[in-house]
Amino acid sequence: MAKNLFIAFEGIDGSGKSTQVKLLTEKLKNAGHKVYSTFEPTESPIGSIIRNIFNHRIEADHRTIAGLFVADRLDHLLNKTNGILKKLEEGYTVISDRYYFSSYAYQGTHMDMKWVIEANSLSADLLRPDLNIYIDISPEISMKRLNKGRSSMELYETLENLNMVKAKFTEAFELLKFKEKVSIIDGDRLPERIASDIWNEVSKSL
Ligand code: ADP
Ligand code: TYD
Repeated sequence: MAKNLFIAFEGIDGSGKSTQVKLLTEKLKNAGHKVYSTFEPTESPIGSIIRNIFNHRIEADHRTIAGLFVADRLDHLLNKTNGILKKLEEGYTVISDRYYFSSYAYQGTHMDMKWVIEANSLSADLLRPDLNIYIDISPEISMKRLNKGRSSMELYETLENLNMVKAKFTEAFELLKFKEKVSIIDGDRLPERIASDIWNEVSKSL
């Protein structure tokens, strides 16, 4: 029987993660898999505090944000009704739009990345993705895409910050290359071309 996988999508804002999560979900379902797709920050009470910080409704230090993401992620994994671990036990393939590499890169831009990795170690011990898919685009393209669809920008959505975040993703992948499986996919192409490369990568793990 084919394995049910846990796949995490990563990338800077506007890289096309949500688009690709949808396309991969369809392909897996067509191939007969049960699929649960999810995202971080979550819709839990902890996730909504985070979103309020990003919308500039409340103010918080980057270290506080890092702590909130640790808590949000643990709830995402352990929640008894719809937690990722429960879904995997039920035989679902789980796809998450962002997981701990996002914390390493985004919070690691504003504080010591090693601390962020350490603070997320409980999640990493509970569940390491079978595959991290990183959609690689330049911050310039990302900002163009985001500017099209938005009237206001969130906390981390500036060209300067996304340049630093992109560099931190690269640093985190290098640091963890012996522990983590990462596929880097060129995101500056038509969505269907990207989806087809992703499908090839996922098929290898099935
Ligand atoms: P993310 O979830 O990473 O923020 P989205 O999938 O929401 O990214 O895409 C951000 C924007 O870019 C959306 O308007 C989407 O329609 C568009 N988009 C997604 N993929 C591509 C692509 N390959 N080429 C051009 N535009 C894209
Ligand atoms: P998301 O809703 O995925 O935004 P987008 O679709 O534009 O990529 O994520 C919202 C923001 O949360 C995004 O700017 C990245 C940030 N984030 C962190 O800073 N740390 C984290 O651990 C996660 C999961 C997200």
